Amino acid sequence: MADNELPVDQVATMDLNDDAVQRHQFSDRVLIKSILTRPDGGAGLAGQQVRVGGWVKTGREQGKGSFAFLEVNDGSCPANLQVIVDKDVADLGQLVPTGTCVYVEGMLKNPPEGTKQKIELRVQKVVDVGMVDPAKYPIPKTKLTLEFLRDRIPFRPRTNTIAAVARIRNALAYATHTFLQKQGFLYIHTPIITTSDCEGAGEMFQVTTLISDADKLEKELIKNPPPSEADIEAAKLVVKEKGEAVAKLKSDKAGKEAISASVTELTKAKENLARLEERSKLKPGIPQKDGKIDYTQDFFARQAFLTVSGQLQVETYACAVSNVYTFGPTFRAEHSHTSRHLAEFWMVEPEMAFSDLKDDMNCAEAYVKFMCDWLLDHCFDDMEFMAKNYDKSCINRLRMVASTPFERITYTEAVELLEVAVKEGKHFENKVEWGIDLASEHERYLTEVKFQKPVIVYNYPKGIKAFYMRLNDDLKTVAAMDVLVPKVGELIGGSQREERYDVIKSRIEDMGLPLEPYEWYLDLRRFGTVKHSGFGLGFERMILFATGIDNIRDVIPFPRYPGRADL
Ligand code: 4AD
Ligand code: MG
Repeated sequence: MADNELPVDQVATMDLNDDAVQRHQFSDRVLIKSILTRPDGGAGLAGQQVRVGGWVKTGREQGKGSFAFLEVNDGSCPANLQVIVDKDVADLGQLVPTGTCVYVEGMLKNPPEGTKQKIELRVQKVVDVGMVDPAKYPIPKTKLTLEFLRDRIPFRPRTNTIAAVARIRNALAYATHTFLQKQGFLYIHTPIITTSDCEGAGEMFQVTTLISDADKLEKELIKNPPPSEADIEAAKLVVKEKGEAVAKLKSDKAGKEAISASVTELTKAKENLARLEERSKLKPGIPQKDGKIDYTQDFFARQAFLTVSGQLQVETYACAVSNVYTFGPTFRAEHSHTSRHLAEFWMVEPEMAFSDLKDDMNCAEAYVKFMCDWLLDHCFDDMEFMAKNYDKSCINRLRMVASTPFERITYTEAVELLEVAVKEGKHFENKVEWGIDLASEHERYLTEVKFQKPVIVYNYPKGIKAFYMRLNDDLKTVAAMDVLVPKVGELIGGSQREERYDVIKSRIEDMGLPLEPYEWYLDLRRFGTVKHSGFGLGFERMILFATGIDNIRDVIPFPRYPGRADL
């Protein structure tokens, strides 16, 4: 029998106990999900002995304190398990406060007819309790606003909403890897610290140790002041004297030992002088050269930043192993306070060799549809929670997007449609004319009002897009595309990349960007260039779109935006 096969009698037991609730593999408890999300709501498990752990959502003592009802949640699903504890089993007062952690063992039972629950747990033993002082607990039991919760980041995940968002976010990440892996894409980890600005927009956070080094030096120099001129002169004098002593011993033909002892002293004196001279050069503040900051003294011996996109780096792999993607955090130092922008957000960036703009749009559309289907199949209970509490239409929106072909229009057509809307009396804050960067209000008009489904706008004016996008034959537009979706506006930005060396070089120059940092990128066009394309999907925007939550700060576990970076 092979090692990984079970003995026949055990297989038989498993078959017989098919209805037995499975214990979690790495703890001695049962996930509440494996009780409550069964098709029978757990009813068929009555009579089974289980251990569960979780946090009390609501607890109340009943029957004049003779027993307590606890609604317990362990995060494995949105539903709570009803847990009943008799006063002989435990101190009920300790168990009922919201937020208490309970780890209990007992028998699953069918509740009396007419109750909402299909199954409840009658506790026989309280294994452990993590107590809460209700007067001090940061998350009171009342209905809380998401804004209020942003000031309580460590305890946010205890709320139904943030836990549901966490499960949806997790499912979308899993869906992302599943979709791309199925299509043969390799997951490439691109650097967080970079020395090239992908979007050329200068919105990068700088990574430097010059400031902390300067701070350290300043403190050190206060504690241990640098040597004065007199100290150095004195040390020079010692070197001179020791040198003369060595010379004298040599001319006196002194013994080997005496000469060598004297040379050792001279060496020490020289070392001391060198140390003092070195320290005397230390100057507080950021090192400068020719009136500018001297980055050769920085950690990487050059200026470095947090990445705004892994695209440029992932292209090196696309131009070698053909289908790749990167999925990681990206950073933008934009001072935008909107509900759609974060300073740190996650981006999924597929990149495909031998693919043009049309392939790129097809991939983006298939990927978004796949994610919608995935949520309907894997997160329906969380989606129902969102529909009930945040956005009635979110489930229908997922269904609609999963099943409807996206509208595809050129930028020029988009502007014409917006101009018609203006003529018909629609008011936009931002002026509409060919050449403008579409504002969020324009994007949302197209996807929410005009087409009422996702819209892909492509072939944008070259002046408003990044240098790496492929110049079209009209020499006015580039092969760019943005996917716009209801509720969010821009969800995806992508393009076919400029693979022609001469064209991309002059695009960089025309945009006034320095060539030097992009030389390696140009080399990809010099050696074995290939038609290729890719896009970036804003992961938090996808979650906003799916859940209907209004503010992007509530769909990332640890939001970073101007003025805030808690934890
Ligand atoms: O359109 P963007 O800037 O495209 C790129 O960075 C390309 N290099 C991607 C590529 O082709 N590989 O950003 C892509 C997406 C946007 O469509 C938007 O959804 C999201 O990233 N995004 C943000 N999400 C949250 N906060 C911000 N500050 C964002 N900026 C962009
Ligand atoms: Mg964009």
